[in-house]
Amino acid sequence: MTWTAADIGDQQGRVFLVTGANTGLGLETARELAKRGARVVMAGRDPERIANAIAEVKAETPQADLEAGIVDLGSLESVREFSQAFVATHDQLDVLINNAGIMIPPPSKTVDGFESQFGVNYLGHFALTAQLFGLLAATANSRVVTLSSIAHRGGSIDFENVRLEKPFDKWREYNQSKVADLVFALELQRRIIAAEYNVLSVGAHPGISKTELLRYDDPSMIETVDHQSASQGALPTLYAATADVTGGGYYGPDGEGETSGYPGPATISEYAQAPGIGTELWGFSERETGLKFL
Ligand SMILES: NC(=O)c1ccc[n+]([C@@H]2O[C@H](COP(=O)([O-])OP(=O)(O)OC[C@H]3O[C@@H](n4cnc5c(N)ncnc54)[C@H](OP(=O)(O)O)[C@@H]3O)[C@@H](O)[C@H]2O)c1
Repeated sequence: MTWTAADIGDQQGRVFLVTGANTGLGLETARELAKRGARVVMAGRDPERIANAIAEVKAETPQADLEAGIVDLGSLESVREFSQAFVATHDQLDVLINNAGIMIPPPSKTVDGFESQFGVNYLGHFALTAQLFGLLAATANSRVVTLSSIAHRGGSIDFENVRLEKPFDKWREYNQSKVADLVFALELQRRIIAAEYNVLSVGAHPGISKTELLRYDDPSMIETVDHQSASQGALPTLYAATADVTGGGYYGPDGEGETSGYPGPATISEYAQAPGIGTELWGFSERETGLKFL
């Protein structure tokens, strides 16, 4: 299968919310959706960076139907305010794309005291999905796409170490956040089926793509490994968001090691598939955010 952005169908009349849309994969995702006539809410934490990204997409697609969304996923209060405003001003949400993320930053915590990668990459998106789920459920054939990573395969969740309780290990903590994203995507689908909602939850990963993700380390490190462009890396997300996919599916590049290529089914670790960890993460996330859904 060679699925490309040219295969994205007409998206007119559909509303997409993309987190982390000012650069990297989120920007490429928004760019292609806008070309297909979607209304895209480009969300990020920095108003100026989002405004610049909107200008960039509009320069290429003048008729693009874009909106800025300002939300800091490292603050549950910011996610609450953003979600409330979103629900008050939109009567549909066809696809929520949980894309924003950080990788191997220095040891740091979110406003709510969580290790930054766990808090931003995972828990902020749990809270966002929880508060937008009513709108998703009210929109026919809606979806939630959550970005994980090849790195999830090396990850497990240590509930005793989500607040930097243990000596910081930047890669272990990144892997933990990305396996949490995939565990969440799979558990969300199980709960949607049990509650009989017409919403799909799908996971995606971009292989290894050249973006700003290495900003906290040496960005040139990417040149030492097999990698692809950000626009190519956005294809699995676009596929998960718009193609004929299965709920609970996970899509990534189809090349060797899933580092590059065109969208295809991706490998899910045994750890991420086990329903037990899904139940445990869900319960933990509900308690920590005070948000119950499904
Ligand atoms: N690139 C890869 O090879 C790769 C591989 C596997 C998985 N991924 C995943 O792909 C997703 C996108 O990453 P990327 O590669 O496109 O990286 P990127 O170029 O660094 O983009 C990350 C985006 O997330 C936003 N973000 C960071 N912290 C945020 C916060 N607290 N609140 C709201 N937005 C925030 C950033 O906004 P600012 O610019 O304002 O910080 C930026 O828009 C991530 O989930 C990442 O884990 C990427």
